[in-house]
Amino acid sequence: MEHPLQAWRDTLDELGVIGLVRTPVQAAEAEPPAPSRSPSVRPTPARPVPAPAPAAKPPKAYVPPTDAQGCPPVEVVAATSTLSELQAAIQGCLACPLGPGRLKFVFGEGNPKARLLFVGEGPGRDEDLQGRPFVGKAGELLDKMIGAIGLKREEVYIANVVKCRPPDNRTPTPEEAHACLGYLRRQIELIGPSVIVTLGATPLRELVGVAEGITRVRGQWKRVNIGGRDIPVMPTFHPAYVLRQYTQDVRRAVWEDLKAAKEWADKAAGA
Ligand code: URA
Repeated sequence: MEHPLQAWRDTLDELGVIGLVRTPVQAAEAEPPAPSRSPSVRPTPARPVPAPAPAAKPPKAYVPPTDAQGCPPVEVVAATSTLSELQAAIQGCLACPLGPGRLKFVFGEGNPKARLLFVGEGPGRDEDLQGRPFVGKAGELLDKMIGAIGLKREEVYIANVVKCRPPDNRTPTPEEAHACLGYLRRQIELIGPSVIVTLGATPLRELVGVAEGITRVRGQWKRVNIGGRDIPVMPTFHPAYVLRQYTQDVRRAVWEDLKAAKEWADKAAGA
């Protein structure tokens, strides 16, 4: 026979009133405490778990061409004996995904025997349009910085870590930098500078292998071995950074770095 209170219990149960129905006591540590519920609110039924969103398609891997024009072999690059030969060998390069997106290949320019070599990150919009390094706003400032140490743009050499414009002027990926680095190293071998000035963190990291923050290391001499020769490296701020942080301190820091680089280059030349 049914207990006399059973019907009443069933009704309360149905209304969601808890506390009258005994449930087994759980071990305290086994689970986090259950969220408290208002006795007059019926527990929300569990919602159906939505099906997982279909996985985003991985981006298509870039497949570089295998021909010597699209992907110049290292032996071809190493065999070049002038900057013009090097440029002719590599200007059709498609070795990384930046190649197909460029308008113009930005090889670099300046005195082919410059004692001072400036290395930036990569071409921006203006450089991509003109095929020349540092010709936009940052370039204007770089020219002034070079002028402030008593030199003209034509007396130094200016190059970049990558020779094709990264989309939206983003930092080149390590793969893109790596694909271009052999060209820059051969370019440096052919120029034979006494000092390299790296502009910003990217050339310092990719060419010299120093990954510390530029604010920490600017003004401190580093070295890079290229073609069996140790070349002193002076890290300084990128002109685009100077334009954003146009304070006397930042401009003075860059001027001091460039002055130190020029003094070293003069000393190396016995001037
Ligand atoms: N920024 C760079 O790093 N290089 C250029 O050539 C222009 C802007």
